[in-house]
Amino acid sequence: MRIHSRLKIYKNRLDHNLGLITQKARNQKLILMLKADAYGHGIKGIIDFLEDYSSSIGYIGLASLGEALFLKSQKSKSNYPMIVFSEIGDLKESISSYGPMLIPVLSDFNDLKIFLSNKLSKNIPLFLKFNSGMNRLGINVSEVEAVARLLIKHDRKEIDHLMTHYSSSYLADNVQKVQHICFQEIESEIKAAGIDILESSIDNSGSIENNLMDSSSTHFRPGLLLYGAQSSFTNKQLMPLKVISDLETKIIKSRPVYKGMSYGYGNTIIGKAGSMHIIPLGYGDGISTFYKGLEINIDQFKAKFIGRINMDLSAVFIEGEQDLDLKNKSILIWNDQVSRINKLSKHLKTHPYEIFCMLSSRLPRVYLLE
Ligand SMILES: Cc1ncc(COP(=O)(O)O)c(C=O)c1O
Repeated sequence: MRIHSRLKIYKNRLDHNLGLITQKARNQKLILMLKADAYGHGIKGIIDFLEDYSSSIGYIGLASLGEALFLKSQKSKSNYPMIVFSEIGDLKESISSYGPMLIPVLSDFNDLKIFLSNKLSKNIPLFLKFNSGMNRLGINVSEVEAVARLLIKHDRKEIDHLMTHYSSSYLADNVQKVQHICFQEIESEIKAAGIDILESSIDNSGSIENNLMDSSSTHFRPGLLLYGAQSSFTNKQLMPLKVISDLETKIIKSRPVYKGMSYGYGNTIIGKAGSMHIIPLGYGDGISTFYKGLEINIDQFKAKFIGRINMDLSAVFIEGEQDLDLKNKSILIWNDQVSRINKLSKHLKTHPYEIFCMLSSRLPRVYLLE
């Protein structure tokens, strides 16, 4: 575990983002996507922050049955029903793990058949996901009629929750509109076949931040927005979010640099005089080698990641300040500013999802109220 580098995670910022999302809801409750260890923030710490939200949170969304069983074992103070979205296991065996508080999303017609033919399914809410154009998981549109017939055959005349997933809501493009229409058609066809739909959801961060929400659905399914980053690739801030974490580290050594000096593995030649400051963060913590060249501010100085990022250490260079000794100085790689995480995403040629999820378990997560 690190002692000088950590991810500080603030409840008041999470509250702020949740407030912004709920302001956009009409009557919708939230399915909070806490998969992938709460997008790298640590699921136990995040769920403990969510104790006071029973009126707005409907469910917690996870990718895998394994994640859900882990969360269950954590005995959190918050107790929301969990939904497993993708890796539900082989239902012939895994069905016994499910119940009213742990629900699989069925995204495949054959899984639905296995589910309905098992008597344990009577005690499990029926959550179905259709493919409206993402072409990843999801029951095909061509199977809607067969699904309705199968449900009637098994005397299951209600779908507890119907959903689909957008492929490009963060682009607010025409595909998003087409998928939305497709979902509405699926809903109508199911209802026309005599099946009631009790709940539905389609909206993720992209559609929420672009105000493209489906007004008739009962739930929103935000992920990234909770953590304070924006899904859309635009410099325009679509919502006044706050990134819920600060990635903090401390300089552990400063060294004067003369022009032409080399640094680290591969002997990178530094073309200018200045000072170099070593920080205990590397790719072993999830700071990828692509951080090289990233500019950050340290007080009034402009610093830049130089040379190869190592497993345990990185170096930042400040031009022209040869005698600067910053040992023990705390620095923030990112803070609550969305613009900073956007700049980092651009530099790394990725998105905030990956930046957060890359952080490794060596980096302590510290949970703070404010
Ligand atoms: C099915 C489903 N719904 C909702 C989300 C949340 O997406 P976002 O983090 O973009 O809000 C995800 C994330 O990948 C997802 O897979």
